Amino acid sequence: MSRREFLGALLTATTTAGLAACSAPGQRASITVGSAPAATGGVAKDLRLRARVFQADLAGRTVTAWGYGDSIPGKAIRASVGERLRITVSNELPEQTSVHWHGLAVPNPMDGVPGVTTPSIQPGESFGYEFVVPDSGTHWFHPHTGLQLDTGLYAPFIVDDPADPGAYDEEWILVLDDWTQGVGPSPQEVYDGLVAEGGADAQPGMMGGGTRPMSGMGHGGMGMDGGDVTYPMFLINGKPAADPDVLRAKRGDRVRLRIINAGADTVFTVAVGGHQMRVTHSDGFAVRPVNAQSVRIGMGERYDAIVEVADGVFPVVAEPVGKTGYGLAVIRSASGRMPRDPRPSGLSAYPTTAAVLQAASGVALPGGDPQTTHDVVLSGSMSPYRWTINGATYDNARPLTVKAGEMARLRLSNMSMMSHPIHLHGHTFQVGAAAGAGPRKDTLLLPPMASAEVDLLADNPGRWMLHCHNAYHAEAGMMTRLDYTT
Ligand code: C2O
Ligand code: CU
Repeated sequence: MSRREFLGALLTATTTAGLAACSAPGQRASITVGSAPAATGGVAKDLRLRARVFQADLAGRTVTAWGYGDSIPGKAIRASVGERLRITVSNELPEQTSVHWHGLAVPNPMDGVPGVTTPSIQPGESFGYEFVVPDSGTHWFHPHTGLQLDTGLYAPFIVDDPADPGAYDEEWILVLDDWTQGVGPSPQEVYDGLVAEGGADAQPGMMGGGTRPMSGMGHGGMGMDGGDVTYPMFLINGKPAADPDVLRAKRGDRVRLRIINAGADTVFTVAVGGHQMRVTHSDGFAVRPVNAQSVRIGMGERYDAIVEVADGVFPVVAEPVGKTGYGLAVIRSASGRMPRDPRPSGLSAYPTTAAVLQAASGVALPGGDPQTTHDVVLSGSMSPYRWTINGATYDNARPLTVKAGEMARLRLSNMSMMSHPIHLHGHTFQVGAAAGAGPRKDTLLLPPMASAEVDLLADNPGRWMLHCHNAYHAEAGMMTRLDYTT
């Protein structure tokens, strides 16, 4: 295919994304793990995951997706803190894969990063991950292999804390995603297009180092914050806005929302029509509750919030920052119709972010000055398409080092005009100084040109990925490691 044909194909794909409405019942079951504590260190439950190719129904349109089981998202894994799980993943995909348990500080060999912690699972083979569930909260899992995350391979991993039953009647998991697979170009075609357009691998005289944005792939607004990829669809719980997931409750119910951004290149602002949210957790850890009109959530981040359901029909909208379109789910506590304009007014308010949250009492890391401080400078360019940490792509990265038992500080600074959700494996960090006020998180959205200091306690030895959770940025090099040394 010539570049012109390729661009033409992209353009067609993204402009024929109009949707016929037609509904199919959503499947939202979860695998429930027995509540018997693993007192003897035995396996509490054996779970199976099939990574496979299947046909998904997106508002009446059948697309070939990759997923866990036969739904997008895959069925949630649900467990309690302290349970030992064995999760056998069989790879029925045509390529090798892996599973990373995002937000769970599992032992290093179970972290699911090929070439660093855990072997790849070859097609036709399986691998048994086994670990004791360490942290309560709203987490998730996905492959750590190329762009597979953007094909539908993701699912929630919800961990209950038996000591904290929670003061709510109902809970809804809301998994947000940006979708192109089977509707627009495949994620790999998108990535190849970004690289070709950026000219990084261009042969002289072939593609050149063009700076013109590709058709169907704007930089979003003024190239500020709109991601690198234009998506034809946004999903909540695997359903596009034309066929939204319907969440039922009784008026007055207190519902815990567990919001997960599984998107590859999209920051979302989430609001609920006619409701305030009371934000209670960030990346699984409790914060001092704050009321919010809307919440901004970067890729990989999670927020939990309580809503007290009013009487009627209300939209839950996930608006992509700097992009057009939206994800939609519907709350229904009475008969009636959706408002004509589903856009909640809360989306016009200043969104709540990690910057205004504080760790709940007892959640802060122990205080003390860090023994080690590292700078983590984020930068990159569209032309060539290259994203770096401390000036290097992953193949040239010099890992950051830490010694077991230390407090370490990372001074994150974003020297680019894109936002980057920075994710650390195997640990949570505290935003701001330890024992200070900020929330504990494993993924922090850093807006363009912003900086932040985060502290972590080095209590989980190994070699851990530190990377941007934009799948395209990570693929283009925006990854490094935090390695323990002796
Ligand atoms: Cu959610 Cu390294 O990833
Ligand atoms: Cu990034």
